[in-house]
Amino acid sequence: MQIHIQKAEKSRLEAFNFDNFSFGIETTDHILVAQYAQNQWAEAKIEPYREISLSPLAMCFHYGQTVFEGLKAYKQSAGIINIFRLDKHAERMNKSLRRMCMPEVPRELFIEGTKQLVNLERNWISDKEGYSLYLRPFMIATESRLGLVPSQEYLFMVVATPMASYYSKPLKVKVEREYVRAVEGGAGAAKNGGNYGAAFYPTIQANTQGYDQILWTDAQTHNYFEESGTMNLMFIVNGTLLTPPAGSTVLEGVTRDSVLQIAKHIGISVEERPISIAEIQNHFESGSKIEAFGVGTAAIIAPFSQIDINTKSYIPYFEADAQMFVLKKHLQNIRLGISQDIWGWNTLL
Ligand code: COI
Repeated sequence: MQIHIQKAEKSRLEAFNFDNFSFGIETTDHILVAQYAQNQWAEAKIEPYREISLSPLAMCFHYGQTVFEGLKAYKQSAGIINIFRLDKHAERMNKSLRRMCMPEVPRELFIEGTKQLVNLERNWISDKEGYSLYLRPFMIATESRLGLVPSQEYLFMVVATPMASYYSKPLKVKVEREYVRAVEGGAGAAKNGGNYGAAFYPTIQANTQGYDQILWTDAQTHNYFEESGTMNLMFIVNGTLLTPPAGSTVLEGVTRDSVLQIAKHIGISVEERPISIAEIQNHFESGSKIEAFGVGTAAIIAPFSQIDINTKSYIPYFEADAQMFVLKKHLQNIRLGISQDIWGWNTLL
């Protein structure tokens, strides 16, 4: 596939401080851009990173047709770069796009475009432990029009930003029973911007009450766990890994899928099924050993140090020998090329 590349005259890498930066503020030197209009994709371009200009009537500003992905590239030994689960992210992006009535991004454009961008930015990937390059493919509706119909024009872009840990400490979370993230038949399974924007208000309320994140519950009864803030949710109860099933209200997380496959492979029993709050509360009260954590591309595995259910606080197990850290290590070893990539998850450059 032909991608026109215009290189930046000067890299900003020298001025970037890998020891002191916040996630998602500074980008690498280049951006991938592809335009869709008149039912077809124009040739993709990789250009020096730049701002974009849009009409105030651009439909993304009004009706929420915006979809994004998040994936990571790692530096393995000997300078090999690995983009983790590139195929799976391409597949999920198109699933989200279909739900939002947006045209699919051709697989080759997503895969080749991302590979070529990462290849150009390979020096931005630190090999320090826990570091990666976070890639943000996204698509927005750009047609200038206020009529309430799907846009006929779009921009697909990929930007990249260096990343260390997303959360710096174990999280104190509360079970959210007033606000909901998703409803059956809604767009909860899509990675569209609105799902994240709508989560700000309840999350900020929880933050002001001293919590780092919330655990979403189902919209109908508030009795079942769904997701956790920016991540999928998992428990390990007496050695069995439990996670709510992915579906119309729970995002099909790529890290979720990777962790489940690794768990099965190393002999941890896995149950993907509805998990009631009462079940977990009973386990805590009967003294079961419970690990509770979120899994996501940005956060990888984020342990919970406290879960509040109504007025009661429960303390999960998150010592260094917890099984979630064994899973994390396995995942990390595959990404870094230390363990064999038996599932073909790595794209090496
Ligand atoms: C990711 O893990 O890639 C996410 O989507 C979380 C993000 C909103 C920071």
